[in-house]
Amino acid sequence: MRPLQGCRGRGVVVGTVTLCLAAGWALQTPGGVSLVVPQPSINATVAQNILLSVEYSCRGVATIEWKHVSSWGTTKIVEWKSGNYVNISTVYKDRVTTFENGSIQLLNVGMRDAGYYFITVTEEHGANTYGTIVVNVYEIIYEDLHFVAVLFTFLAAVSAILVCFMWLCNKSLHLFQKKMTHKLTASTTEEIELETIEC
Ligand SMILES: *[C@@H]1O[C@H](CO)[C@@H](O)[C@H](O)[C@H]1NC(C)=O
Ligand SMILES: *[C@@H]1O[C@H](CO)[C@@H](O)[C@H](O)[C@H]1NC(C)=O
Ligand SMILES: *[C@@H]1O[C@H](CO)[C@@H](O)[C@H](O)[C@H]1NC(C)=O
Repeated sequence: MRPLQGCRGRGVVVGTVTLCLAAGWALQTPGGVSLVVPQPSINATVAQNILLSVEYSCRGVATIEWKHVSSWGTTKIVEWKSGNYVNISTVYKDRVTTFENGSIQLLNVGMRDAGYYFITVTEEHGANTYGTIVVNVYEIIYEDLHFVAVLFTFLAAVSAILVCFMWLCNKSLHLFQKKMTHKLTASTTEEIELETIEC
């Protein structure tokens, strides 16, 4: 009877998984508000613009609120009611763009923007749902090195050109001096010749 038991065991597992999925789906949509966060983790570099992408759906008018939580504390970023008002915190003025689907774009991120971003979508009747996005911000070490390498190559090229130029100058000066001496010698000989004739 062992194989049969195994089959039944599998059936129970499948049933439990289905139940869990159904429960999860039910929890995710309390009162008809749902939220999808396709990318729960974002890696960004300093000065980049990032899109905290979400998509909510809800029957009535929803209020969306974004908060930033990091080791420096919790800051409210923006709160808006679809088709009603947009209230952006003074700290984030000119840095935040809101989208109809609940997403926000954060411009020119710095190291301080790393941390957790919490979104709350609240329906008119009070039902709400939450989402989280983790943002890592890295400094642009590679590009710094790249810049140094480019600068170094440029300086090397400039010094090579300067050395060539100086060598050319030196060479032409030598040539000029040689010509001058030649001319001088020639004229002196002529003078001497003239003198000899006069004599
Ligand atoms: C972010 O970087 C970490 C390691 O630094 C990596 O494990 C993770 O997959 C990256 N995530 C994304 C979304 O690129
Ligand atoms: C939300 O809207 C923005 C702008 O239209 C779009 O770039 C983004 O992909 C959307 N997010 C989702 C999850 O559909
Ligand atoms: C906008 O936010 C400020 C401060 O957080 C608050 O005093 C004000 O009442 C808000 N305005 C609206 C329309 O919610």
